[in-house]
This record gives sequence, structure tokens and C-alpha cells, in this order.
Amino acid sequence: MTVLAVETSCDETSVAIVSAGVVRINLVASQIQLHAEYGGVVPELATRAHLRNLPILVRRALAAAEIAAGDLDAVAATRGPGLPSALLVGLKAAQGLAFALDRPFLGIHHHEAHLYSPWIAGQPPQAAFSAFEPNIALIVSGGHTLLVRVDSVTQHQVLGATIDDAAGECFDKTAKLLGLPYPGGPEIDRLAVGGDPAAFALPRPLLHAPNDDFSFSGLKTAVRYLVRDRPQAVAEPAGRRDLCASIQAAIVEVLVAKSLRAALRLGLPCVTAAGGVTCNRALRQALAEGCAQAGLRLQLAQPSLCTDNAAMIGILAEQRLLAGAPSTAWDADIEPAWTLAPPRSPAAQGA
Ligand code: KG4
Ligand code: ZN
Repeated sequence: MTVLAVETSCDETSVAIVSAGVVRINLVASQIQLHAEYGGVVPELATRAHLRNLPILVRRALAAAEIAAGDLDAVAATRGPGLPSALLVGLKAAQGLAFALDRPFLGIHHHEAHLYSPWIAGQPPQAAFSAFEPNIALIVSGGHTLLVRVDSVTQHQVLGATIDDAAGECFDKTAKLLGLPYPGGPEIDRLAVGGDPAAFALPRPLLHAPNDDFSFSGLKTAVRYLVRDRPQAVAEPAGRRDLCASIQAAIVEVLVAKSLRAALRLGLPCVTAAGGVTCNRALRQALAEGCAQAGLRLQLAQPSLCTDNAAMIGILAEQRLLAGAPSTAWDADIEPAWTLAPPRSPAAQGA
């Protein structure tokens, strides 16, 4: 089966062609430069950029795969959650293509695609669901921080989420307080190298709370006060590196501790991580060390599939279609606030 997939939920326009579980083409037009001067994603600009980029990427993807639109067996797109107008561009274009070709269409949940993206492995990336094990999945991006129990490729349950800022948002906002360019996550990752992670005592919000939720706004506020009260300390290069290392260490410690704790509590053998923040080198290393110590398997999304991409949409769509999933209607609407399955009762969470 050959599937063309589209992703436009936020600030990346992406088109992929997936065939028999293999990602043949995965094109991503990043809008980072477009939004950098505003310090965050501007929905109107993102939407216009998707409108400009999408037809070009679809043509390029088909040409690179050396196929014609008529060779496609199905079309898929992100249906939600995301920025409404940005989602509309990709969903409606994909539905229109499926309608014109008279092929099945599948609207995919963006977080479900992140959830299963660690099971896309190798070069070229391909579906590795045969290696699947029940796991605790950490999804960490600019907009979301979720801890999910994943029992099979169709069954999952959200255990916890951030009650305020997402982990990526915390990276981006604290970086902004330090005067670093957007997006701040990769900047902090870079500057933290050589910094002392214990130089500044920063809070680890909800680290010991008896639940699977996260909170990062207190950490952001602590950094704001540090910058205000000790401007000298953070102005010089060494102090700035130390502060970046300290911010990163605080975020990583909470993410890793809570992921591992949930896996051990629920007796799940594996931890996975996906979403843009999973590019962070300290997070990848701390998860690897923590899982090795706890005797857990670790399955990380490969860096090119951590940030938003259509490959993960296409792989999941093909997998679902082969399993007999019904098509999504050609006129189905976007779902900007679509949530994953809600938390179970405390007893079912093993609390
Ligand atoms: O998944 P993503 O591409 O977009 C959504 O938000 O859905 O994630 C983007 C986020 C941004 O907050 C960015 O700063 C963060 O991922 N990020 C990182 C790194 N690379 C990207 N955060 C920390 N370290 C990184 N290396
Ligand atoms: Zn995402």
C-alpha cells in the first residue's frame, strides 16, 4: 500500500510517502525563521506558509518517489490537535486529493502519531511494530507534555499531563528570558554543554507528587527572578552556560524520574519518548542511563522524527488501514482540541 501523508498542525509543513511500512520520502518545510522575530508561532503566518508550501511539497514528494498521484492507494493528514487554521490547510487539501483520486482518506491524531513514532526505526526509517512492547510513552513538545500508558498499537491511556506550561515551552520561555533566539530548546541544549548543572538551585516541580502530572511554570518564574536579581551572574558566558545547564537539568530530572516511576509502578517493561524536546541530548542520555539502571528497555524516536513530520502520520495511517480501519469522511472537520483517551481511575493507574 502506498500512502501520501500531510502534517500541518503547527509550524512545519510536511509531506511523506510511505509504502509497505517504509518511509520513502519525508519532506519538511520548517517555518522557524519566519516566526523567530516574533519569539513564537504566529498562526496567521503559519497558515499562509502552509498554503504556499503544501502544493510544492506534494509535487516534490511524488517526483522524488517517482510515482504519479494515481499510484497512491490512500491519503492521510493530521486532523488535530493543533492550530485551527493551520490544520484546515492540510486536512482539506488531503481530503480533496483523496476525493479526486477516489481513494480512502484517514484523519490522524497528532499525538497518536508521536506516541508510535519511536517504533519507526532504521535508515530508511520503517515501521518496527513487530518489536513493540507495552510501554510508558513520554510525549514532550512545545505545546504538550504527556505521560501515556501504551498497551498495544491500538490501546493507550493518558496517565498525566502538564497542568501549565509544556516542557518545550519552558525551554523556549526561559531561553527568551536569557535573550536567546527562538526556539530556545536547541539553544539551551547547545549552551548547556560545559555548564555546571548544579550551579543554580532550581525547583523540580511535582517531582515527588503522587501523580503523573507535570508543571513547569514555577521553574520559569524562578529563572525570571534569577535573571532579575543576579543579572551579572547570568550575563557572563560561563554563568549563562551554567544557568542553561541548570535549567536543562531541572526539566530533564522531572521528565525522566516520572517516566521511570510510572513504568515501574505499572510493571511495564519499556519507556519511549517522542516530540521535539526528545532531540535534547541530556534528556536522551538521562533516559538511557535511568532505563539501564532500572532494567527497562528504552525506545527513543530518532531525532529527525522527534519534531513534527508527516512520516509518522503516514506510518500510522498505513498501519491502521491495513488493520481495517474505516476511512474518515472526505468532509470530516478538523479537531483542534482533540484529546487522547482521558486518565483512568486512580485504581486502574496502579496508584
Ligand atoms: O514537536 P515539536 O517540533 O513541535 C510542537 O511543539 O508540536 O517541538 C518543538 C519544541 C520546541 O519547544 C523546541 O524548543 C523543542 O521542541 N526542542 C528542544 C530541542 N529541539 C527542539 N528542546 C530542548 N532541546 C532540544 N535539542
Ligand atoms: Zn508535535
